[in-house]
Amino acid sequence: MTMRVFSGIKPSGDPTFGNYSGGFRQYAATQDIAAAEGGQAFFCIVDLHAITVEYEPAELRRRTLDIAAMLFATGLDPARSIVFVQSHVEAHAEAAWLLSAVTSYGQLGRMTQFKEKREGQEFVSAALFSYPTLMAGDILLYRTTTVPIGDDQRQHLELARDIAARFNARFGDTFVLPEGVFPEVGARIMDLQDPGDKMGKTGSSEAGTIRMLDAPDVIRRKVRSAVTDSGRDVVRSPEKPGVTNLIEILSVATGEPPEAVESRYDGQGYGPFKQDVAEALVELLVPIQARYEELRADETELHRLLAIGAEKARGEAAPVLETMYERMGFARPQ
Ligand code: TYM
Repeated sequence: MTMRVFSGIKPSGDPTFGNYSGGFRQYAATQDIAAAEGGQAFFCIVDLHAITVEYEPAELRRRTLDIAAMLFATGLDPARSIVFVQSHVEAHAEAAWLLSAVTSYGQLGRMTQFKEKREGQEFVSAALFSYPTLMAGDILLYRTTTVPIGDDQRQHLELARDIAARFNARFGDTFVLPEGVFPEVGARIMDLQDPGDKMGKTGSSEAGTIRMLDAPDVIRRKVRSAVTDSGRDVVRSPEKPGVTNLIEILSVATGEPPEAVESRYDGQGYGPFKQDVAEALVELLVPIQARYEELRADETELHRLLAIGAEKARGEAAPVLETMYERMGFARPQ
């Protein structure tokens, strides 16, 4: 079976180093693998997902282009990958409705992310609840084999597989069951101030969140004030979540295995280690930021690239959506 990669990222909040670790860098890597195998990779700015919680309409428009520029700045090649905006391809909203017929209500209610996000909210939208069905449609519409994601999306992917299997059982073999690809190191980057919490675009502490566009001095300050633990040992251990997180961050930023990081800094205390983590982040992010600024400045070009992506994505999704309608028994227009 040829490799078909699909992943999505929400245009809500400023992207973080967590998105780099579980998202951007994996997108670029899987794009290369798919190209080498004669497959196809799709990367989607999932704007329909961004309206499930409180948001500003003007910000959604701006952030959609921000994410597009960041996808290209971190290595996606519009000549090789299909990069597009979810709402430009109407099939996504339609697929979500069709698939909601084979999605378990009970299972949606058990999604960790739903339970976390509704916590303390006065208004909880039906969209937040049915979000994973839309995500399943995103993946299934492209006959996806491979989904590069971070650990926080594991449960959503499992649900997408369950939905695909239920559709296949009920209406005949239609969908491939997609497999997740998770980074070996850095599948879950944690908040520097609260290493029990995920580093997120929204929700984590500002001081504990490294943003893709943070200035070098901001990065240095955030890393310097990162919560570590008592002692001097630079080792990964469940008792040392802060240090473990910093080791993973350094490893992701430089590509050096975490074991090598541990043996190099062990017993030296946290000062020099933290300084090197900060410098590695600066070294990684400054060139990305320069490329980003250049790409983001030309909105006409971004729109042009996204229009090409949407056109190709529409062509790929349409026959799959049509098959879904047919197998489900709709009298289609002749
Ligand atoms: P989103 O926008 O929250 O995040 C985009 C990607 O970044 C990863 N990520 C992390 N990885 C490691 N450590 C972290 N702290 C961290 N924070 C975020 C996420 O795992 C994700 O891969 N529901 C998805 C978007 C989506 C999607 C899809 C993904 C919609 N449809 C289809 C894959 C396939 C989301 O909210 O990602």
